[in-house]
Amino acid sequence: MERLDKILSSTGRWSRREVKELIRTGRVTVDGRRALSAEEKADRDHSAIAVDGEAVLCARYTYLMLHKPAGLVSATEDPREPTVLSLLPPHLQKIGLFPAGRLDKDTEGLLLLTNDGALAHDLLSPKKHVDKIYFVRVEGALEESDTAAFASGMTLSDGLQCLSAGLERLPAPDEALVTLREGKYHQIKRMLAARGKPVRYLKRLTMGPLRLDESLPKGAWRPLTAEEVEALRGG
Ligand code: URA
Repeated sequence: MERLDKILSSTGRWSRREVKELIRTGRVTVDGRRALSAEEKADRDHSAIAVDGEAVLCARYTYLMLHKPAGLVSATEDPREPTVLSLLPPHLQKIGLFPAGRLDKDTEGLLLLTNDGALAHDLLSPKKHVDKIYFVRVEGALEESDTAAFASGMTLSDGLQCLSAGLERLPAPDEALVTLREGKYHQIKRMLAARGKPVRYLKRLTMGPLRLDESLPKGAWRPLTAEEVEALRGG
């Protein structure tokens, strides 16, 4: 348990003095109850803290699901291009969030932003083989031989040895769901280019147990639910 003013000011949104004023004027609630004093104690990981009725993210670690649009790079900073962090409000750009796993600039879909380095490390560790599922549209028509090649573990012309991957064809001949257990640079594009079927559109749908919330428009984000965080931790 920590003092409420300390928890709220650590979000970077308000100074300690502003927090005291918010509490004094009755704008802060903890678990639905109006906070009466800045010295009140709360649990930053479990108490529901709100200002003017809006939930405040103040847990030690933050986990956001982002529906990445095309045109942004998956990085925290870049000298030339806008990054995915530019989609967040300023206070969430200051708490050490980074994308757990990259998507290419033109790839859309599920991106996890967190400041929990240990969890991100586990999700990305090549040894953990966390499955990621992508929707892909290619130039040309996909065939059973492409599914077989993906399953066999392709070796690309530059020597990259890929693990066995899934390619499930969809009713449209140029569309499929691809399942990767690793994440090498431009991997799906390189695997499909090697099959003579360049990628025209790519969107990540899942990462381990996490599934892109289809109600989230492109460019929008939301905090993960407690259940989603638990599932990612393997719980
Ligand atoms: N494979 C790719 O080629 N690009 C991505 O963004 C993700 C997987």
